[in-house]
Amino acid sequence: QRGLSDWQCEVLLLTDSTNEQLKGEGFRHKKLLAAEYQSAGRGRRGRQWVSPLASNLYWSTGWQTQMPVQQLGGLSLVVGLAIINALGNLGIKGVQLKWPNDIRYQGKKLGGILIELSGDVAGALQVIIGVGLNMQMGATAAKQIEQQWMNLNEIGPEISRQQLLTEATIELSRALELFELQGFEAFRDAWQEVDECYGQKVTILQQNQELKGIGAGVDATGALLLQTGKGIMPIYAGEVSLRFR
Ligand code: BTN
Repeated sequence: QRGLSDWQCEVLLLTDSTNEQLKGEGFRHKKLLAAEYQSAGRGRRGRQWVSPLASNLYWSTGWQTQMPVQQLGGLSLVVGLAIINALGNLGIKGVQLKWPNDIRYQGKKLGGILIELSGDVAGALQVIIGVGLNMQMGATAAKQIEQQWMNLNEIGPEISRQQLLTEATIELSRALELFELQGFEAFRDAWQEVDECYGQKVTILQQNQELKGIGAGVDATGALLLQTGKGIMPIYAGEVSLRFR
């Protein structure tokens, strides 16, 4: 595949969580691990990620980087933008991103991103980038989902999971290289194009405190800018879950 010659790709029939599996089996840079089914798929904030058999895409990517951890705040945004590009390349337009990690279409969730740290080796961070995308989930599995959601196959044109996984990895590989060289700054304009929060009334929940304001884009690090009564506030919470094994 173009640009993917140094990647290793593996598809499992089942696992608990592709993020967990990638950690457990020993981290590998540029490894893509997908599964047909996850028995304990995870979302952010300890939530479950509903992962029925062969319906959707669940995958994790191992990425080792010299970037300092404080600069990784924009990473989930960069990953979201790579997915949007991949979808666009396959003819699926109009997908948006809800800061910091939701992939959405007309206000409904299509997928999400879960970034975890696996460890560090001589100062290089081992990052696990997990992505879940709803493609053709049936109604039974979906009964467990609390929020508004939808499948990619409702948008069209029809694409296969394999096509999307390949395209997403090509885009992700490219995006990660640029991110490492130039930081989030290089992605800020692209974010504006797909920022679902822009100009919208939003409430941020931070340590049980509610913060209300209007989305005003993101700063050069990927922090959400919230227009409040007291001026513009950057919001950093929750981009990277700093969990070490
Ligand atoms: C979220 O929106 O809360 C993030 C969802 C991330 C789900 C993916 S599916 C593949 C990978 N393995 C997991 O257990 N979670 C991520």
